Amino acid sequence: MDYAATGTEALARIDAAADLDAIEQLRIAFLGKQGSISGLLKTLGQMSPEERQSEGPKIHALREAVTVALAARKAGLESAALEVRLAAERIDLTLPAPETPRGTVHPVSQVMDELAEIFADLGFAVATGPEIEDDWHNFTALNMPESHPARAMHDTFYFPDEAAASDGRPGRMLLRTHTSPVQIRTMLANGAPLRIIAPGRVYRSDSDATHTPMFHQVEGLVIDKGIHLGHLKWTLETFLKAFFEREDIVLRLRPSYFPFTEPSVEVDVGFALVNGRRVLGGSGDAPGHGWMELLGSGMVNRKVIEFGGLDPDEWQGFAFGIGVDRLAMLKYGMDDLRAFFDGDQRWLAHYGFSALDVPTLSGGVGTPA
Ligand code: DAH
Repeated sequence: MDYAATGTEALARIDAAADLDAIEQLRIAFLGKQGSISGLLKTLGQMSPEERQSEGPKIHALREAVTVALAARKAGLESAALEVRLAAERIDLTLPAPETPRGTVHPVSQVMDELAEIFADLGFAVATGPEIEDDWHNFTALNMPESHPARAMHDTFYFPDEAAASDGRPGRMLLRTHTSPVQIRTMLANGAPLRIIAPGRVYRSDSDATHTPMFHQVEGLVIDKGIHLGHLKWTLETFLKAFFEREDIVLRLRPSYFPFTEPSVEVDVGFALVNGRRVLGGSGDAPGHGWMELLGSGMVNRKVIEFGGLDPDEWQGFAFGIGVDRLAMLKYGMDDLRAFFDGDQRWLAHYGFSALDVPTLSGGVGTPA
């Protein structure tokens, strides 16, 4: 038998195979169970030993040549197919983005993200509590018992049904008037030591250019051993310098009163009058300068630490509470709080932030929109 002719013909057919399917068909035709070359191999069994010795190597060589040719043609076809795909699936990075992003991040959200970023760097975690709060967490545990006059200043929204049902404790529900109840919840849940900020919505029945029935606060709480007012002052100073992105922020601590802190301090920040506008920075005592009240704070009252389930002889702490909307107004220059909650697209387009403008300390916490 003329194996050379068979081989030449097989190799020619393999060479002419147009695609991977054709290669597979040829492989089956030559080397499959019923394949022609497999058939030749089977004839070896019926041959005489001499015949087998002369024919065997030729048949094996033929099979080897066909196997190699099939593999080579297959590889060639595959790389050609890849070339075609690479050419067809090219991405043109010079095209504009499909759609310009719409909508902006509200300044309140942006400021809350800035606060979380700054305080995370100081080792504070973010804690939360419910906006529908009970009387005990909102008042009693913060050292404001039922008859306490400070309650009257909170213009509280109570839920009517439960208020009538009980004598006022502890099931009476309300919309939290401040973020301070998160202090109690976090102490009870996590124990000490603690370093948290608690940003969120709060509610009071009050409405004018600087008051809305819903607004935002951020609470700060540190509980540890040997904590004193110096820690409070350093923390607030460090935070305000980072937030307003200026080194010349000057604070003034004034004695004050809050039921949940003892002693209590009100913190003022120095500003300069520039073209009739208040610009934070510098001592409020310098000529052309003044002091602006910014936040309430103090050393956590022993009773509050006890209500939080901790021993006040072992644990001390400081706390502070700031209006988030107010911080946003001071930093980004809005003058009417009500506009924050109107949902006016033009206001949001002007004062809002790009969703891609994520506050980071390294990038400057709050690059203006
Ligand atoms: N809860 C107070 C308020 O809403 C603010 C405040 C003052 C919070 C002093 C504090 C603090 O943690 O120590 O008016």
